Amino acid sequence: MNRRLFILLIALAPLFATAQKISIIPQPVSLNLRQGSFTIDKNTTITFNAAQAELATAAHYLAGQIMNISGTTLRLNHAASKTIQLKLQQTAEIGEEGYLLHITPSNIAITANSRKGIVYGMQTLFQLLPAIRTNAVLEVPCVAIKDYPRFQWRGMHLDVSRHFFGPEFVKKYIDFLAVYKFNTFHWHLTDDQGWRIEIKKYPNLTKTGAWRVDENYLSWGTRPQAKEGEKATYGGYYTQEQVKDIVRYASERNITIVPEIEMPGHSAAAIASYPYLSCEQQHQLPMTGGNYKNISSNYCPGNDSVFTFLQNVLTEVIGLFPSKFIHLGGDEVDKTSWKNCPKCQKRMKEEGLKNEEELQSYFMKRMERFVSSKKRRMIGWDEILEGGLAPGATVMSWRGEQGGIAAAKMGHDVVMTPGTPLYFDHYQGDPATEPLAIGGFNSLKLVYSYDPIPAVLSEKEATHILGAQANLWAEFISAAAHVEYMVLPRMLALSEVVWSPKKDRNWNSFNERLQKHFEVFDQKGLNYSKGNFRVEIKPVAKDGKLSVMLSTEIYNGEVFYTTDGKDPGIFSTKYTRPVSIDSSLTLKAITGLYGRKMSILPAIQAFAIHKAIGRDVRYTNPVSPYYMADGPNSLTDGIRGTDIVGKYWHGFSGKDLIATIDLGSDQDVHTISLGCLQSARDWIMMPQWVKFEVSADGTQFTEVKTVPNDVSPNEMASTIKDFKAEFPTKKVRFIRVTAKAIDGLPKGHPGEGKPGWIFADEIMVN
Ligand code: ACM
Ligand code: ZN
Repeated sequence: MNRRLFILLIALAPLFATAQKISIIPQPVSLNLRQGSFTIDKNTTITFNAAQAELATAAHYLAGQIMNISGTTLRLNHAASKTIQLKLQQTAEIGEEGYLLHITPSNIAITANSRKGIVYGMQTLFQLLPAIRTNAVLEVPCVAIKDYPRFQWRGMHLDVSRHFFGPEFVKKYIDFLAVYKFNTFHWHLTDDQGWRIEIKKYPNLTKTGAWRVDENYLSWGTRPQAKEGEKATYGGYYTQEQVKDIVRYASERNITIVPEIEMPGHSAAAIASYPYLSCEQQHQLPMTGGNYKNISSNYCPGNDSVFTFLQNVLTEVIGLFPSKFIHLGGDEVDKTSWKNCPKCQKRMKEEGLKNEEELQSYFMKRMERFVSSKKRRMIGWDEILEGGLAPGATVMSWRGEQGGIAAAKMGHDVVMTPGTPLYFDHYQGDPATEPLAIGGFNSLKLVYSYDPIPAVLSEKEATHILGAQANLWAEFISAAAHVEYMVLPRMLALSEVVWSPKKDRNWNSFNERLQKHFEVFDQKGLNYSKGNFRVEIKPVAKDGKLSVMLSTEIYNGEVFYTTDGKDPGIFSTKYTRPVSIDSSLTLKAITGLYGRKMSILPAIQAFAIHKAIGRDVRYTNPVSPYYMADGPNSLTDGIRGTDIVGKYWHGFSGKDLIATIDLGSDQDVHTISLGCLQSARDWIMMPQWVKFEVSADGTQFTEVKTVPNDVSPNEMASTIKDFKAEFPTKKVRFIRVTAKAIDGLPKGHPGEGKPGWIFADEIMVN
């Protein structure tokens, strides 16, 4: 071997060895690996300016962590040969939360403008160290890191109402946030199914409102309401002492807790405790789950004593939480009770409110004034836009990004928490193999690909986007280990979205670094999702040709597929490049890893090649913007809908689907069909019938057939049906397809009598 090359390789070897170990999440703004390493041992001291008292808690936090993993006691401000220096000093570019971490063989220096930055620098240092107790040498590589966050609101939410999680787990959850440099914990403390915070002035809130009849053996939506006399044994609440302790614990880790006290809806637990708070003022039992008739969920805005109650509650809450933001909920108010309430109607008349939306706005504005009078800021779900937004309010955009965009354009601050992809109660892998979830599908990669700044905002409007947050609703999550599973690893992906520079977002790099964090989760005994083994099938239409790209989110995973309808295995065709689709077929694909089949079930995508492909579709009633599939011509793209609700399905809410297609020239046609979906739990129902008409001129249409629906409205399993008209071959240029909406959701359905959805995927012409 060439000697010089040999020496060079020897010199580089330790560099590569150390480089492998650096798997920091979220990815720092800049990281330079240097030669050498620093070893933390008993000859190491932590130094800081003792006059800066805020550094003492940070130093103790650091010493505690070193003690936990090694049993070594680091002395503070002691003469020693090796130092870990914590330095508060004016430093440009890194802002309030940034830090510099410089490691040389004799010194570790963490420099920042505030204690926050110091603690984040320590979190990065911890990721260079073993995660659990070890006898190994605590050796960290020499690095120079400059780091600061992209967004000021980096949030994680936890619903403790639907299921109660005790203070110890809440601290563990806060630890997850701290490791990944989140700074906001949104604590959803009240809802219909449980009030979770002690309020001294209103003891019934926790005596009654925190406990319900235990029906955990039934899944959420199937639970009957409790009966009088049944014992309410399930629940719990946090005492004010526990809250103070948790707030202090979070603050040491740079985490602000934003408490949420829901109003005016989602308040059945408070009403069970104090019936005078509702319009009906009737006695009721705490809800056990789901939605029930004859339960009051709303406070009565016509009653001044409701406002007195809420102001008294908030006074105690504000006393416990130093957070600048106080979350007042505001979502999902069914306003029927207000329509029927004389006090509410009187209030509307007196205040000149046109409708119940304005009554909700009156409610939120009145409470916002109270919050502002306490020198705090109100934040609420995007429904607070309806009927007029309170002047100082910040909007949490959850029904997509539209509410957030509207608020930012009005000059209001916004936190982005769109259901897709930031609801972590949704599935992250194949529903067939995952724990039962509320629905939806937000995979790790989807979370990683999110950007909180919508492209439609100007630079100035975008400054109102404070950041983003994932929400974890707990209807389907009753165990702490299940909470871990839902947030790990998706919160790691989000941490990079909200912390790291957008230009450095790199899925492959993240996925590789993630493997180290999986090892840590294993060492710590955390319950986490190993990822989404379902293959992503991405159809691409280009130059009139249809092809598909297949990918897996699994690190080092491979994809195998079939197109003959058979189930694939690791001996099927291995995917290497896009597969072109030239005929109607069904593609099935699985993920393999190191020679093993990892997907339990294949991902399936059907394609229909027919005469209307690529033709423009005109709709008489608009397609819902939420269910546009892959664009306005989704009904003629050859891509069939899948069993993932929303994927390649066009949605119409409460209205008939009336679609007209121009084939461009006369064609010989003998079959026209429309594919439809029923998923009753998602309020998606088959149309009553589908009518097929043809025309030569686009104005005079002749009916060829009307096909009635034969799927029962009570069928709860997800069902796909093709409504099909066959007729003797005709010359046809224009086609009109009408799918008749149902008159209302069927009896016994949770949305009985309300409009349903029509979901269609393709108009096939042959
Ligand atoms: C919400 O998910 N109802 C905010
Ligand atoms: Zn009322």
